Amino acid sequence: METFSVAVIVGSLRHESSNRRLADALARLAPANLLFEQIDIGNLPLFNQDAERTDCPPVSHFRAAVQHAHAVVFVTPEYNRSIPGPLKNAIDQGSRPAGQSIWAGKPAGILGISPGPLGTAPAQQHLRNVLACLDMQTMAQPDVYLQYKEAMFSIDGQIGDSARPLLERWMAGFARWVAWHSHSHSDCVQAEQ
Ligand SMILES: Cc1cc2nc3c(=O)[nH]c(=O)nc-3n(C[C@H](O)[C@H](O)[C@H](O)COP(=O)(O)O)c2cc1C
Repeated sequence: METFSVAVIVGSLRHESSNRRLADALARLAPANLLFEQIDIGNLPLFNQDAERTDCPPVSHFRAAVQHAHAVVFVTPEYNRSIPGPLKNAIDQGSRPAGQSIWAGKPAGILGISPGPLGTAPAQQHLRNVLACLDMQTMAQPDVYLQYKEAMFSIDGQIGDSARPLLERWMAGFARWVAWHSHSHSDCVQAEQ
């Protein structure tokens, strides 16, 4: 079976982040041919267009890690009804210089968890707009809008029974989405040759 690497970007820098716990638990539901790896965005400098062609090791490492991946998963909280600044900063860092975006054409997935009843839905909608601008192929369904509850994760970090069926469905859909995009992309490359 073909293997795909998946770059996982968590939108929270918080040590006890519930979104990081979700990302960790999600990786444990992945089939053997999807290799989930979290990519740190906490050490990226603030994007400054004056410096976009200057060598900056944290930016180069981040860009290389995402470029190497077949697909990207964003697991993000909602800050003031949108995505957190560090996540937007990472996306902007990867999108420049013009013509050298690391995002274009990659299949993507979005999930999020928050204590609020909207479960990050507004933030995810904003993120979808940004990813569309970057020509990412974002899976539409199933949506994963989770409201954080005590005991949502087991002590050993697994997702609890309430959210597990949804996440399993999401993972099955995402595995198909990544494989389908990978094959349709290589078909297009062959057709162009
Ligand atoms: C600056 C800021 C803005 C926030 N705005 C929202 C919001 O708009 N909607 C929401 O549901 N929660 C909001 N929250 C609460 C976060 O969802 C909550 O802190 C969450 O646990 C953060 O995710 P994390 O656990 O992965 O760090 C906000 C938190 C911060 C710090």
